[in-house]
Amino acid sequence: MSMRKALAVACVAAVVAAIAVVQLRQAGIIGSGGLRNADAAGGAASVGGPFNLIDPQGRTVTDGDFRGKVMLVYFGYTHCPDVCPTDLTAMGEAVRLLGPAAGNLAPIFITLDPQRDTPSVMGEFVQLIDPQVTGLSGPPAATAAAAKAYRVYYAKVEKPDDPDGYGIDHSAYMYLMGRDGKFLTVFRHGSDPETIAAGIKPYL
Ligand code: NI
Repeated sequence: MSMRKALAVACVAAVVAAIAVVQLRQAGIIGSGGLRNADAAGGAASVGGPFNLIDPQGRTVTDGDFRGKVMLVYFGYTHCPDVCPTDLTAMGEAVRLLGPAAGNLAPIFITLDPQRDTPSVMGEFVQLIDPQVTGLSGPPAATAAAAKAYRVYYAKVEKPDDPDGYGIDHSAYMYLMGRDGKFLTVFRHGSDPETIAAGIKPYL
């Protein structure tokens, strides 16, 4: 990778991060003091909402199917070189740290790259994270609707070192949603499994 290209990549990453922060600020998740709970923000935040996607068995799955469980939702894609693997590994480890209590948790990985991440690809991939994780794919419009509900930024970008020549720039937050589907809190990219598990535990 040339220096110019490396700089370009770094710039894109910085812009993506900045956009994500702006979006979360608009959503009331991040105040000037950093992350905060939506309730503390006056309940004004509206992160999360309906989604209508496809599970690895080809069944339609909606957010309503998870009512009564605490959802841990992450958006990404299986070809992601670093960001998603880091966070999804932490997700799986957090599930295992929670042990039996995780029975009330629904960890969900929603792909932003349905072109490559078909339901069956997602099914195989989530097995590598933790068997409890549900991998969801869907038509591009359904993916866009789900991402919009969660204020997720993503964009297809050229990526010469990818086998298919493209990647997906995306914001990377792990959203914790209550049994009623309402937003509880969010974990930043790079959060360690212990922090995630400790953040989830009170809600299980
Ligand atoms: Ni990623």
